[in-house]
Amino acid sequence: MFGKKKNTAPICDERLSHIAFIMDGNGRWATSKGLPRSSGHAAGAKAFKNIVECCSRIGLRHMTVYAFSTENWSRPKEEVDRIMKLLSDYLDEAERMLDKYDLRIVFLGDKAPFERGLRKRMLEIEEKSSKGKKILNIAMNYGSKSEIVHAVNSALAEGKKTITEEDIDKNLYTKLSPPPDLIIRSAGEMRLSNFLLWQAAYSEFYFTDTLWPDFDEKELYKAIECFYKRKRRYGGLG
Ligand code: FPP
Repeated sequence: MFGKKKNTAPICDERLSHIAFIMDGNGRWATSKGLPRSSGHAAGAKAFKNIVECCSRIGLRHMTVYAFSTENWSRPKEEVDRIMKLLSDYLDEAERMLDKYDLRIVFLGDKAPFERGLRKRMLEIEEKSSKGKKILNIAMNYGSKSEIVHAVNSALAEGKKTITEEDIDKNLYTKLSPPPDLIIRSAGEMRLSNFLLWQAAYSEFYFTDTLWPDFDEKELYKAIECFYKRKRRYGGLG
């Protein structure tokens, strides 16, 4: 799955169809350079776009990014507004590249709290990209515990009396994607922070100290190389 030369691009085979990213460390990146936190998010957005491009190039079929959690609303308004603006700018850019990357953009989370214009753009892009074959899940106003509660309530609303794992699977926001094979978290923290708790049951984890704005193609390949060395046994003997 890797070229002969070191650091050449891997190709995603049947073992790797979904990578999820916790894009952490934007604030620390900015602070370390004496810049405002919002500059860290702008640099983080740039890194995100580059990684979407790389993942598409190497044939990854599903990608999920944790862009904004339900808890992130408690940040200063200026910082929240900056992230919303970056998302809105990205949607304009992505719209022009949907065909090039064969992307289908899906938002994970409740869209109700977003400002009307942004909410409309999010719905538009989901609709316009709905034929794309490579899924990009963007978690915005996302929290995994509330996603699970939402899935259970949806199953109950369908008239289910007893809830099965399958009922939950098919009512999760991520229902278009298989569970992540690999979850990558940047910036040194080793926790899930309310991200994909259900879906991560058998995911492999990769943690790096690299701050998200510095997370590049080489870092991605390193994580994938590490993933391919793992033996996944799903609780069996393998
Ligand atoms: C975590 O870093 C990052 C976020 C809460 C926001 C992530 C947003 C982006 C990468 C840019 C916008 C996204 C899109 C989809 C265009 P942090 O701020 O918690 O960093 P810190 O832990 O160093 O303070």
